[in-house]
Amino acid sequence: MTESTPTALVTGATTGIGLATARALAAAGFHVLLHGRTLEKARRAAAELSRYRVTPVYADLARRAEVVALADRIRAEQPPLDVLVNNAGVWNSTQELTAEGVELTFAVNHLAVYLLTGLLRDHLRPRARIICVASDSHRQVRGMRFDNLNLDGSYHGLRSYAQSKLANVLYCYEYDHRKQDDTIVCAVQPGLVQTDIGIKGNTWLHRLAWRVRRRMSGNKTPEEGAATVVFLATVKEPPPSGLYWDDCRPKQSYASSYDPVEARRLWEVSERLTGFTYDWGAGRQ
Ligand SMILES: NC(=O)c1ccc[n+]([C@@H]2O[C@H](COP(=O)([O-])OP(=O)(O)OC[C@H]3O[C@@H](n4cnc5c(N)ncnc54)[C@H](OP(=O)(O)O)[C@@H]3O)[C@@H](O)[C@H]2O)c1
Repeated sequence: MTESTPTALVTGATTGIGLATARALAAAGFHVLLHGRTLEKARRAAAELSRYRVTPVYADLARRAEVVALADRIRAEQPPLDVLVNNAGVWNSTQELTAEGVELTFAVNHLAVYLLTGLLRDHLRPRARIICVASDSHRQVRGMRFDNLNLDGSYHGLRSYAQSKLANVLYCYEYDHRKQDDTIVCAVQPGLVQTDIGIKGNTWLHRLAWRVRRRMSGNKTPEEGAATVVFLATVKEPPPSGLYWDDCRPKQSYASSYDPVEARRLWEVSERLTGFTYDWGAGRQ
């Protein structure tokens, strides 16, 4: 962590776990770049945290050009990052495609993470922490459907979401495997958290199911759901890289996430679908 004010970018920080993370990091002394889908949404959330140093930034992460523009603006206008929290995510009952023809959940939950992180790599400080909000729901799929990533003809919100969360874990492990510097990359299971993720973009039946599910006892508040992310971002001794975390402790992820062939293949597919290749030899801040 730097001697001066550390900087953290939190994506999807206008609601839920992301907003709770942004609030906690700002309270801990970070300059927080609070990302929202639009500038208006980001400004509104930043206004709630006006007693802290918070800068609204924006991009629709389903749009490749907006991800690139966000990274360009951050690199041009903001200090290098100590922490990057890839938190933004969606759960969609019905299949939707992006302008590039990629299934929306996979595009937002994984491809935007791959692209944004890659574009910001040369804007990370030494020993920066990249924290990806994944989910234990990755256990619900046995592997990536590389033959049909869009799940044409077999789309289900649970399947698509689980595949995207498996991609989050595979991405972190493969990043850790490929990196040649001291960046720390972590995947986090936040728990079952009382947010609106299951209400947006969903059928009435899925909305109802989510409302019932999130009321069940043992579920976490957004602040509790953000706790492991905040721990990893703020803990003084840099955490070990390349692990899956839950309740502020590393734990085993599920079997399919440890397949190095799947991880390499996901990386190659992500390169192709985003048109972006990481330059591991390039200098950093
Ligand atoms: N809640 C849980 O139980 C749970 C469990 C495991 C993992 N997670 C993960 O936790 C993360 C945060 O989810 P949450 O539960 O806090 O849900 P949430 O309250 O719906 O927050 C999701 C955030 O991502 C943003 N986002 C979604 N699509 C976007 C797009 N195309 N462009 C820009 N921003 C976009 C949302 O903005 P809008 O409001 O504009 O859509 C919102 O700010 C997700 O990665 C989710 O998969 C959640």
